[in-house]
Formats: sequence, structure tokens, C-alpha cells
Amino acid sequence: MELTDTGRLHGKVAIVTGAARGMGAAEAALFIAEGATVVLTDVIDDEGVALAESLGARAEFRHHDVGEESEWRALVTYVEDSYGRVDILINNAGISRAGLIEDFPLEDFDLMVRVNQRGVLLGMRSVIAPMRRAGGGSIINIASAAAIRAEPEHVIYSGTKFAVRGMTQVAAAELAADGIRVNVIHPGGADTPMQRNANSPERRAWLVERIPLKRLAEPSEIAEMALFLASDSALYITGADFVVDGGILLNTGL
Ligand SMILES: NC(=O)c1ccc[n+]([C@@H]2O[C@H](COP(=O)([O-])OP(=O)(O)OC[C@H]3O[C@@H](n4cnc5c(N)ncnc54)[C@H](O)[C@@H]3O)[C@@H](O)[C@H]2O)c1
Repeated sequence: MELTDTGRLHGKVAIVTGAARGMGAAEAALFIAEGATVVLTDVIDDEGVALAESLGARAEFRHHDVGEESEWRALVTYVEDSYGRVDILINNAGISRAGLIEDFPLEDFDLMVRVNQRGVLLGMRSVIAPMRRAGGGSIINIASAAAIRAEPEHVIYSGTKFAVRGMTQVAAAELAADGIRVNVIHPGGADTPMQRNANSPERRAWLVERIPLKRLAEPSEIAEMALFLASDSALYITGADFVVDGGILLNTGL
């Protein structure tokens, strides 16, 4: 992909977590197409390396566990040293485990809080200093429609995503004076490995039936919202929720 002067992220440097596949991969690909340099991070290295190679010279993959603060420090230092700045962070990495409240294994609780909630907190605080040095920035957190309305059998997932929504608002308020904008995207159902692994074909069919637009989102459709929030088109937007859900939160079943 050639660098263009018309790209909406021309010259910007972005970090996308959980970018080896799914939504993160789509966000990285779109951001590169729009002129950004993107550091893709994930814990699945083979897929991440192969994807970054396929995306060209402005993509690089780094192994990175979002739950480890030391790994965040090393990553952000590396990006700033290598590319001179950090303008955009997408806290996209996430995991999902289903289960009823009564049965939920506490190990799954700890795991989900570590990735979905602690990972987002660590990400936000790791990029504050470099974004200040860059004169501002855009942090985009990926939560879920389950951060707005109950998703049965997802008590912890939903809890961590509600937390991301709350942390987004506090961070937006704290960081506005530095020109650092913080927003949150709430996908409904998106056609990614998470969706395919977590739900049986029957459950996916049931979900699609409840979506007014009668289909799951393509990962690229979530990426388009992230692009808008990352770009200078969204300079007056911070602390806000962006639902991309095919209308599922309309609750038309009532
Ligand atoms: N797919 C959906 O229907 C849906 C709906 C709402 C919200 N979301 C959210 O969107 C985001 C992306 O989900 P997806 O559907 O693309 O999932 P996915 O499982 O396809 O991709 C998530 C990526 O995160 C990575 N990851 C997991 N633990 C990590 C860690 N500790 N450190 C770094 N990377 C880690 C995984 O290896 C994977 O590559 C998640 O936060 C998810 O909760 C997804």
C-alpha cells in the first residue's frame, strides 16, 4: 500500500491491540490504507507476524500481553523510539467466556478482568505521556452492546465492558486538557473468530434473528467507526459512546 497525502490518518502512528485477527486486524488494515503506521500487538504471534507482513512496510507486529504493565512500558517505548510518536491507541484485545452467575468459574472471572478491564486501564495510562509529547491523541476503547444492556450468560464479560465504558468517561475528563480524546465503540455482533468460537451456529442464527439489519457486522464496519474517531474529523468528540450494532439495542422484540 502506497503512502498517500489524502489518507485520513496520513503521518499518524497507531497501536492496535489484539490485532492478529478479527476486528483488530480490520482496524489495522484500514488505518494503514489511510496512511497511518500501525504497530499490531497480540499474544498469537504466527498470525500477527503473517498479517503484518501482508499489510506492507507501515505495519509491524509486536508480541504483547495487554494484562502486563511491563509489556506496555516496553511496547510504548519501542514505538516512540522507532516511529517518533504515538497518536492513536485502540484497546481492542478482549476475551469472552459464557456462563450463569451461579456456575461461573472464578478463574474465568480473573482472566476476563485481566484482559478486558486491566488491559484497557494499562493501555490508556501507558500512552498518556507519549501522546502529551505528540501534542494530543485519540484513544479508542472497544466495549460491547453488552456494556449497555444485559447479555444473559455473560455476567463477567458484561461487567468488564460496563467498566470499560466508565473508565472511558473518567479518562476523557482527565485527559481533555492534554488534547487526548477517549471514546468507546460498542459493537453488537461482529463476524470474527471470537463470535465463531464462542457461539454455536444455532446461537448465531438466533442472534442474527434479533438484529434488525438481520446480519452480523463485518469487522471492517467496526473499523470504519474507529477510523472516524482516530481522525481529525472527530477532534471535538471525547468521552462518547458509539454503537455499531445493526440496531440490536433497539429491542424491537418488545
Ligand atoms: N465479535 C463480536 O461479536 C464482538 C461484539 C462486541 C464486542 N466485541 C469486542 O471486540 C474486541 C475484538 O473482538 P473480536 O471479535 O475481534 O475477537 P477475536 O477473538 O477475534 O480477536 C481478539 C484478539 O485479542 C487477542 N488477545 C486475547 N488476549 C490477549 C492479551 N492478553 N493480550 C493481547 N491480545 C490478546 C486474541 O489473541 C485475538 O487475536 C474485543 O474486545 C471483544 O470483546 C466483539
